[in-house]
Amino acid sequence: MLLSLPPTTSALRVSRCFRFCVASAPHLRAASLAAAPPAAPLPAHLVVSVSGDESDGPHSAWLRDFGFSLHLDFVSAAEASSLIAAAAPVLSRLPYSSDHFDAVIRGYREAQLPAERLPPAAAAAVRRVWALFPAAASSPQSLVHVIDLSTAGAISPHVDSIKFGGGCVAALSLISPARLSLIEEPAAMAARGGAEPRRVDLELPPRSLYIMTRESRYGFAHAIVPSGRRLSVVLRDEPPALA
Ligand code: OGA
Ligand code: MN
Repeated sequence: MLLSLPPTTSALRVSRCFRFCVASAPHLRAASLAAAPPAAPLPAHLVVSVSGDESDGPHSAWLRDFGFSLHLDFVSAAEASSLIAAAAPVLSRLPYSSDHFDAVIRGYREAQLPAERLPPAAAAAVRRVWALFPAAASSPQSLVHVIDLSTAGAISPHVDSIKFGGGCVAALSLISPARLSLIEEPAAMAARGGAEPRRVDLELPPRSLYIMTRESRYGFAHAIVPSGRRLSVVLRDEPPALA
């Protein structure tokens, strides 16, 4: 007989990889939500398709209210090539892992690269991402997390663990476009008295950067479906010090 599990368990399952654990501090998430209430209500399901610079687009105000930003053409082709080349020697030694079908991430391989050992163009791109971290962020982690998703790979909805990162998660998309979905967490939905989780889907073109802080970081799960082999370069700030 199957044991009954809460309905969200399969979507938000904690994988073996420590980066994909679900955040587990409701008080922190509640504080973050209270600190930055959205100015305008979000429709139950909003599909944002990017056709220009979203910082000026029709949804820019809503996205900003939730601490989310998308920056098109953030890295040059030369910087993208430099990042891809820096990760290649490490990644090519690894097989793509094909985890159980309901793991948080599947069809992937990943590496942690020390930022100080990156070639100049890649290092310059990383420094420009760090420069966009909000003033409230703690110091940037010096390890650069590279995720290589195969064409058949995907990242299921999850909230990054608060044990391994602070309030800012930034990711560069390289090689292929991907669909990013932001899906409201049950606690955030309950806090605003909603009956349905809100959801935003965005297209991430290659060489774009997205940054999640505040509500988009803690109150929404994020998920990625690539449309081809995709490399992402994920940069985080340090987790809050344990009291
Ligand atoms: C992660 C993650 C998203 C991306 O590493 O936790 O969600 O764009 N990555 O690769
Ligand atoms: Mn994540």
